[in-house]
Amino acid sequence: MELNGNVFAVTGGASGLGFATATRVIEAGGKVALIDLPTSDGDAAAAKLGENAVFAAGDVTDENSFGAALDVAESLGPLKGLVHCAGSGRRVRVLDKEGNPGSIDDFEFVIKLNLIGSFQALRLGAARMAKNEAVDGERGAIVLTASVAAFEGQIGQVNYAAAKAGIVGMTLVAARDLGSRGIRVCTIAPGIIDTPLLGRLREDIREGLAASVPNPQRLGRPDEYAHLATHILENAYLNGETIRLDGALRMAPR
Ligand SMILES: NC(=O)c1ccc[n+]([C@@H]2O[C@H](COP(=O)([O-])OP(=O)(O)OC[C@H]3O[C@@H](n4cnc5c(N)ncnc54)[C@H](O)[C@@H]3O)[C@@H](O)[C@H]2O)c1
Repeated sequence: MELNGNVFAVTGGASGLGFATATRVIEAGGKVALIDLPTSDGDAAAAKLGENAVFAAGDVTDENSFGAALDVAESLGPLKGLVHCAGSGRRVRVLDKEGNPGSIDDFEFVIKLNLIGSFQALRLGAARMAKNEAVDGERGAIVLTASVAAFEGQIGQVNYAAAKAGIVGMTLVAARDLGSRGIRVCTIAPGIIDTPLLGRLREDIREGLAASVPNPQRLGRPDEYAHLATHILENAYLNGETIRLDGALRMAPR
């Protein structure tokens, strides 16, 4: 799929991996709707990207709100691709320090945002793309975001690891399901990427994280995620696959 001249939606587009992806799409001549929470810096982010970017306020966990954001995206033209970066974690242990059961609310919050939010992005995004004229047999492409926690969740990530593993599990099924519609689905499982999500950590903790990556021994750059996300959009033969982007990192238990 050509980025140039086509319209893409990027959820979580106001920050981090989503903003980096939107930046690459704009640089390649595409148009982008940054879908993010109304409370985000979406307006400022879109302004930085110029006239081919719009902020579309929306919550991926809410059908009506996310649908309205997709309407804004489609005001730019037919939606050809969706890169779904909205998500985050919230620490939960099975038992807390006193031996009390971990919070079911925090478990549910993270599943709802990351896993159900991804299905929402898939189903509402695909419904729009399925109406497109096929170009070389292709109507659209969707990139989801898991995490290496899907494979090596750390202590405290029981909810996040479950949600991200669910996204990995959905990827092949969704690609098979949407194959007859000419819509591809792939997932990126990032390692430790230097976004605002990590910027909140102490410097010595950031240095420790960087040292744990075999090669290159540093945090990943948001543009490295964006590079892969835009490659997936462009490469018509990539489908149904989860790709780790992690410098060969394998997370330790804690
Ligand atoms: N940064 C990393 O190291 C890393 C590693 C693995 C996976 N990830 C995943 O990558 C994705 C993006 O992370 P990031 O580092 O760019 O984080 P970030 O916090 O910089 O950006 C996430 C964006 O998602 C938005 N968002 C949150 N809830 C939303 C909702 N309900 N509806 C719409 N938007 C919502 C936030 O407002 C924010 O702008 C997340 O799914 C995260 O789990 C990140």
